[in-house]
Amino acid sequence: MRSIRECVDSECDSISRVRPLTDQGMVAQVISHALVRCGGIHRSVTLYSLSFGGSNFHVHPRTYVHGFLQKQIKTAIIILTKKIKSMGKIIIANWKMNPQNEKNAVKLACQSDFLNVVIAPPFPFFGAVKKVLKKAKLGAQDMFWEEQGAYTGEISPRMLKKLGAHYVIIGHSERRALGETDTIVNKKVVAALKTGLKVILCIGEPRQVRNKGLTAVKNFISKQFKADLKGLNLKSYNSKLTIAYEPVWAVSLGRYDKHGKSDTPENAGYMIQWIKKFLNSRFLIRNSMVLYGGSVNLKNAKSFLGLEGIDGALVGGASLRINEFKKIIRISQSN
Ligand code: 13P
Repeated sequence: MRSIRECVDSECDSISRVRPLTDQGMVAQVISHALVRCGGIHRSVTLYSLSFGGSNFHVHPRTYVHGFLQKQIKTAIIILTKKIKSMGKIIIANWKMNPQNEKNAVKLACQSDFLNVVIAPPFPFFGAVKKVLKKAKLGAQDMFWEEQGAYTGEISPRMLKKLGAHYVIIGHSERRALGETDTIVNKKVVAALKTGLKVILCIGEPRQVRNKGLTAVKNFISKQFKADLKGLNLKSYNSKLTIAYEPVWAVSLGRYDKHGKSDTPENAGYMIQWIKKFLNSRFLIRNSMVLYGGSVNLKNAKSFLGLEGIDGALVGGASLRINEFKKIIRISQSN
């Protein structure tokens, strides 16, 4: 029989997220699956619910042996708590249309190769970057929703997977600014999840909405979510969806708006908590990570990454300044 430690470890590995364990529900799921693996406890339609340490574990009543399970659960919680503590927040490097040649792309990738980091290079550098990554994961900046066919200039989710991508950024404000609608974003999200890619869905309000106040911002974002996630059975994809809250006016400091600047950590923190609550109540999504993006740099990284509830950052410009980026990664690992 395998030990509970081995089972918790392999259960964590099999969860398809860089940083999988962010809430009680997830903890309960890992532990109950690990118990099934290590104790030969069979899952059944009739489940017995056991409360322990604030989490609920579901085991079959016939195989419920009080002392044995209590001990196993206690051990699993200790192992898992240590594991969670050792996991940093996730940092996604969106290189956009940079750098200008493969040599520099490889250099950047080698220096950014840490656990809990995702690198999203331009497509021509995919192969070279993938070759040098040992710890970081590869992500794409966009994709098309169809599998194949006469779609000049597009790339399919399956092609991305074959190239070694784990993640794909969808609905970035720079793509929306080029005409990508919520309907298109929705098709891409559906196709990516069905293919087994993990989605980083970017949402966020433009300056004119923010100027109207928080209620307008929440209305805007809830409409975006409803359209972008339409028709998805999110229960099955829950842990494959990462949200990046990127207020449009805070991206690339004033590129679209001469008054642009990064959001305040207070606002970002408030919005991230609100997004988590909204996703939970509207879509029953409990495990998705929510990141902040928009002019994250060395000066403000600590105040963003130190926020309660924030699961990481989507970094553009600063991910190209390698010394600065490495320091941001270090900050993410200690918060
Ligand atoms: P900046 O960090 O350059 O503002 O870019 C943010 C972004 O768009 C990440 O996707």
